[in-house]
Parts: sequence; C-alpha cells; structure tokens
Amino acid sequence: MKLSSRHLLGIDGMTAEEVALILDTAEGFVQISAREIKKVPTLRGKTVVNFFVEPSTRTRSSFELAEKRLSADALNFSASTSSFSKGESLLDTAKNLEAMSPDFIIIRHSEPGSPHFLARHVDATIVNAGDGAHEHPTQALLDAFTIRKHKGRLEGLRVAIVGDINHSRVVRSNVLLLTLMGAHVVVCGPPTLLPREFDAMGCSMTYKVDEALEGADVVMALRVQHERMNAGYFPTTREYARQFGVNGTRLKLAKDDAIVMHPGPMNRGVEISGDLADGARSVILEQVANGVAVRMAVLYLLAGEPARETTS
Ligand code: CP
Repeated sequence: MKLSSRHLLGIDGMTAEEVALILDTAEGFVQISAREIKKVPTLRGKTVVNFFVEPSTRTRSSFELAEKRLSADALNFSASTSSFSKGESLLDTAKNLEAMSPDFIIIRHSEPGSPHFLARHVDATIVNAGDGAHEHPTQALLDAFTIRKHKGRLEGLRVAIVGDINHSRVVRSNVLLLTLMGAHVVVCGPPTLLPREFDAMGCSMTYKVDEALEGADVVMALRVQHERMNAGYFPTTREYARQFGVNGTRLKLAKDDAIVMHPGPMNRGVEISGDLADGARSVILEQVANGVAVRMAVLYLLAGEPARETTS
C-alpha cells in the first residue's frame, strides 16, 4: 500500500489505512535510532529543505535527524537568517529554493494553508510541520504512535485534551486522527479558548477538567500560547493553573494506567504541574524520541523508496 498524496499537508483527507501504514512503517525505523551507526541509505541523493518561519525545537531537530538517518542532504533555512526577513514573499522564497532542486520542503509557517499554497506552486514534495493554528500532522502521528505503543491500540480509547484549544494546531490534527482511528476524544479548556467548531469534529467538549479526565486512558495537556493571544482570555496565569492545570490530584480521576502527554514546549506550573511532567506516567520525552521514527516513516513513504533499503 502507498500514500495517496505525494504531500503531507494535514491529517484532514487521510484514510485510517494511510495512518496505520505510517505508524506501522515507523515501527521499523525505531530500531535504527538505537543502533551504534544510526544511518541507512534509504534517501541517499535526496535533498530536503527545512523551511521554518516560526521557532521550533522538537519538530525541526527531529526532521533534521530523520533526514540524516535516512542519508538525505538536509538544508536548514530560517526566516530570521534569510531574505524572508527583508520582506521576500513566501512564493518568491519557495521559487528560489526550488531552483536548487530540493526533493522535499518541510515547512512551518504562522499562516494557515501555507503548505497547501506551496504544494500548488512548487514541484517538491511538501510536508506541513505546523501551519498557524490549523494542523500539525506529524505531531498527531507521533502522538498516536506513542499512545499505540503504550495501549496497544487507538480504537476505543478515551483521550482527554486539556488546555488552549483555540490556538492549537496539535489539537486539530489529533482530533482528526484519533477520531478517524476510533478513539473518543474530549477537548477541554476555558470557554474563551474552546471554539464551538470542535462540536462538528466528532469529539466531546467540556469546560470542566474533572469531567474530561474521568476514566481517561490518555491525558494530554496543551500549552497556553501566550504569543498568539492579543486579548485577555483568562484573568491570571495563576487562576488558569488552578482551574485548568493538569496535576496529580486531577490525574486520579483518569484510569490507573493513564499516560500523560504534552507536545511541548511546556509552561510548567500552568497547564501541567512539574511533578506530573517528570513523573512515572509521563511519556513526554518518549513523544520526542518517537518523532524521529515517525518522521523517517513519513519521508520514506512520500519518497516511495523500496522497502529493502530501510534495514541495510
Ligand atoms: N511539538 C512541537 O511542535 O514542538 P516545537 O515547536 O519545538 O517544534
């Protein structure tokens, strides 16, 4: 089986079979990161441009590692150190990058739909590494991979996602993916940060954290995105933490074996308590580690390379 699109622009439009294919393929790539020589020749001769207009620690570094472990040539390109900061347009920047014949462009941009725009104007394969508050498909894939590792399945699980839902691309991709795979998702946050559009996305909504966490198999806290807020969405950070912060007391409402997730970066003591983030139920650093294997799988499948090259 192959992916139906040559781009990965979002979870929207993917089938359950395609998601399962990526997760199953990632299983085969996990062991490469555990080897002494963490490299296979799968994407030798391919060029990948990592075009990050917004800051990133995890996504950017794990894409770069994934590319290097697959032997691709990686070119890192950031807005602050390029002519993008002099006002060059996205299209002109992309056309100039394309003149150097990349096979892939991995793009993170503050504008929703910018990966789709690039896909219409350049020949390279486009991977969305986060577009505004729209989608972050590889984050949802690595989250699903991590959940499946711990729970053995996605179908039938109760997943509580708590935090700044309004500004989160992670939650949109996660709701799309997890509901597609048969999980029940509950999204929770203050009324000012919980848009009604989620009603139509096949998940439940609540303003009460205790209600969201009750019986959950997975508890995911989301960052309060102060940098995207131009209005007062809640009285104070302290009040937010008191009402919506995920902590040890609240986690008791979830199942005894519930896992705790966060896509990062974390505001410790705000949306998640430090002891929970570092505790035995936390899989936050596993999410980061799994990101490399999942991004290797995405690049591999989009490149359409033969399977024999993944293990040599
Ligand atoms: N989860 C995530 O997207 O983290 P970064 O912003 O550090 O890439």
